[in-house]
Amino acid sequence: MRGRKPVRTVTVTSGKGGVGKTNVVTNLAVALRSMGKEVLILDADVGMSNVDVLLHLAPRHNVAHVLSGEKRLDEVLVEGPRGVRILPAAFGAQELTRLDGHQRMRLLDAIDACDLGIDVLLVDTPAGISENVAFFCVASQEIVVVTAPEPTAVTGACALIKVLSTRYGEKRFTVLVNSARSEAEGREVFRALSSVAGMLLNVSLDYLGHIPHDASVQDAVRSQAPFVDMFPDGPASRKVREIAARILERPGGDVKGSLQFFIESLCSAAAGV
Ligand SMILES: Nc1ncnc2c1ncn2[C@@H]1O[C@H](COP(=O)(O)OP(=O)(O)OP(=O)(O)O)[C@@H](O)[C@H]1O
Ligand SMILES: [Mg+2]
Repeated sequence: MRGRKPVRTVTVTSGKGGVGKTNVVTNLAVALRSMGKEVLILDADVGMSNVDVLLHLAPRHNVAHVLSGEKRLDEVLVEGPRGVRILPAAFGAQELTRLDGHQRMRLLDAIDACDLGIDVLLVDTPAGISENVAFFCVASQEIVVVTAPEPTAVTGACALIKVLSTRYGEKRFTVLVNSARSEAEGREVFRALSSVAGMLLNVSLDYLGHIPHDASVQDAVRSQAPFVDMFPDGPASRKVREIAARILERPGGDVKGSLQFFIESLCSAAAGV
């Protein structure tokens, strides 16, 4: 039976690379798990999969094996820290947006058969605007644009928002400022981005908050462990938990709210190109 549980679908993206998307996704996932939510990460970073590296996992299969019928979805899912589930789509995200009708049905049936009981789906994307990234954004309820405070990252975020709004009709974005030196810097970056976006692009931006620059993030990356687990009392961890709570508070249970709907809209957006 389709659509049995509302799912928050959140795509995390950025204009410039290396601003912290994969850290945001993996740590938000662990924080949401500790709040009792069932979380699935879709690793859509084709060819540059970082989620498995950050979480010290070695997935042997990916979504392409489900599409070919070699594996069931539950055989492909990998379990990470605290029971976060990961669907490795590396080398498969391309396929996800290029499914024919038969493959689409196969994937939807696979999702139905597993009854994943997901509350939140987090999609980690590569940086920059590509057709793939755009499809994931269009299919999600929420697009989180991550930026660092540096002007190059902010300009990149602006360019990404511009393409998603003018070419794909997306008008609502959520902004997360990572590696900020202070709360004030995070707000300042958001204000700057927001005024450009409002004035030139006619889109509305919401501020999700900031994550401070925190050396323990780098230590955790080196240990291939989530910083929220390794340094739960560190400044970055505290902010990630606040942001996780904020995501859950936001209204989102609209018609887009099922995993099947997400996959269906992903495929039909791709088919329309
Ligand atoms: N809040 C932070 N404080 C300190 N360092 C950070 C923080 N966030 C990220 N970093 C550093 O930035 C690096 C890149 O982060 P991450 O891999 O999450 O970025 P990304 O946006 O996913 O990159 P890509 O575009 O390549 O996928 C991390 O390995 C870490 O060293
Ligand atoms: Mg990444």
